[in-house]
Amino acid sequence: MKHHSIEVLAHQDLTEADLCGLRQLFDNEYQEFGEWDPHLPYGYAPHDVHIMARIEGRVVGHVGWGRREITVGTETLAIAGVGGVLVSADARGMRFGSELMSWAAQSMRDRSRVAFGYLGCREQVVPFYESCGWTRIRACERSVGCEGEPVVQEPGPPIPVLSVAPLEMWPDGDIDLRGRAW
Ligand SMILES: CC(C)(COP(=O)(O)OP(=O)(O)OC[C@H]1O[C@@H](n2cnc3c(N)ncnc32)[C@H](O)[C@@H]1OP(=O)(O)O)[C@@H](O)C(=O)NCCC(=O)NCCS
Repeated sequence: MKHHSIEVLAHQDLTEADLCGLRQLFDNEYQEFGEWDPHLPYGYAPHDVHIMARIEGRVVGHVGWGRREITVGTETLAIAGVGGVLVSADARGMRFGSELMSWAAQSMRDRSRVAFGYLGCREQVVPFYESCGWTRIRACERSVGCEGEPVVQEPGPPIPVLSVAPLEMWPDGDIDLRGRAW
């Protein structure tokens, strides 16, 4: 494979060139959603940490996460909400996705005192997250939608989670993200 690199960057450390590379990666894939905005990517929650893959300088993959305390049942839980999981069409199937997810998990362990990684996805992508070690849970999820409106999602759609602290079990109960999803 051509020379490639993976990098973990705090949001505030992204350079103009990084932002430009990310904008290109996202806008190539999601033309119909308008322009990518690093502060509110397509209306979803922003990220504190970015994991970026490059081939010869070009950004070909990204995973982002943000720390937040959410409510599950009667508990408050610190999670890393994951979003912006994308590998450019011409670089898929080369394990960039799984490598980015593994760096993301390591960066959650290293820097954020979170119990779980958390995300939402389409049914078709579940096998990808399972192959990265994530487990699907089932719960009602409240959040803030992309237009700022309250959203209630009944149990059913995939919610993959990753235990960051060893042996932690996902608690029972309704989930309130206390903000936008990622
Ligand atoms: C999903 C995505 C990030 C995977 O990246 P990738 O670099 O192609 O994946 P990898 O090569 O690391 O594949 C790792 C494993 O996941 C599986 N996999 C990859 N893409 C998959 C997909 N779209 N659906 C189901 N399984 C998938 C692979 O078969 C592989 O399985 P294995 O471990 O059993 O061999 C990439 O296909 C993508 O960007 N898709 C479009 C955007 C998207 O759907 N993002 C997810 C939003 S929630």
